[in-house]
Amino acid sequence: MGCMKPRVFSAMQPTSDSLHLGNYLGALVNWVALQEDYDAIYSVVDLHALTVSPEPEQLRSRTRRTAAQFLAAGVDPARSLVFVQSHVPEHAELAWLLSTFTGFGEASRMTQFKDKSAKVGESGTNVGLFTYPVLMAADILLYDTDLVPVGEDQRQHLELSRDLAERLNTRLGEGSATVPEPYIVKETAKIYDLQEPTKKMSKSASNGKGLIEILEDPKKVAKSIKSAVTDTGAEIRFDRETKPGVSSLLSIYSAIDGRSIEQLVEDYQGKMYGHLKVDLADAVVAYLTPIRDNAMEWIESPDSLDSVLDEGATKASAIARGTLERLYDRVGLLKPQRWR
Ligand code: TRP
Repeated sequence: MGCMKPRVFSAMQPTSDSLHLGNYLGALVNWVALQEDYDAIYSVVDLHALTVSPEPEQLRSRTRRTAAQFLAAGVDPARSLVFVQSHVPEHAELAWLLSTFTGFGEASRMTQFKDKSAKVGESGTNVGLFTYPVLMAADILLYDTDLVPVGEDQRQHLELSRDLAERLNTRLGEGSATVPEPYIVKETAKIYDLQEPTKKMSKSASNGKGLIEILEDPKKVAKSIKSAVTDTGAEIRFDRETKPGVSSLLSIYSAIDGRSIEQLVEDYQGKMYGHLKVDLADAVVAYLTPIRDNAMEWIESPDSLDSVLDEGATKASAIARGTLERLYDRVGLLKPQRWR
């Protein structure tokens, strides 16, 4: 008898031309590792990206670029499904159903919505931004997902997905939905901005100089690392409170090089910040170059990339249809004759 692996689902929005090292080490590295023991499904969530009104050609290009970077990082389409959210219409369909199970107050309590809408003001806030977490729950519940690797900032959204799954099971009967477990990345895997090392590396938070982008010119990567903000004093040790700059360089180093932070601290005993930066710059460039080359190959052969994405969507849709039909039936929607 075949042993069913538990399912993992995760996703990223196509909101930048390149992922940054935080996306890569904080998320993609886990996605790749989870493929071993899980039946993995990874999506480029373009419908979510529409909430920030992207420029159409840019959205299309970023959708491909994001998928290319999943593959270059080692997401293996022979084992895992990789697809674009809008290619699987069941996502939008389930999101509608789930919106009728979501309390207005419940959705209003989402801190990410409150933060984002406060930034753009009421006139700039679209309803999609408000229902964003409901679409995310649809992404997850469609595949009867067991585990969802996400960053700390998505914890509350995951909690909503869990509440919705439980609510479906209570109202529509057991077996309606699988309650997903969050898998939040460890503190040590967090990557901080090179210019503001108390903030996590993030496209929105940064002026650009503190980011390490996967697809940028390796020379630029080396330069950003060499001009990273460091701390007063000269000693190389790990202390996020008093030495955020050096600590964040040590975290990056440890994540890509395999040496523990303790080991690195020992190895750099008596050396200067400059030594650490030069070595780290070399290490990051060596680490990212093959990934970047591979991603560029996919980006430069859009037909091959699109066919991977098509296959992913076809398989994802077959699973999603099953879940959607089960739920449509349980809520009492009449099945069209031609589907019976
Ligand atoms: N909201 C997530 C983020 O910004 C992206 C996302 C959308 C997601 N749907 C998902 C993540 C489903 C995990 C599972 O990071």
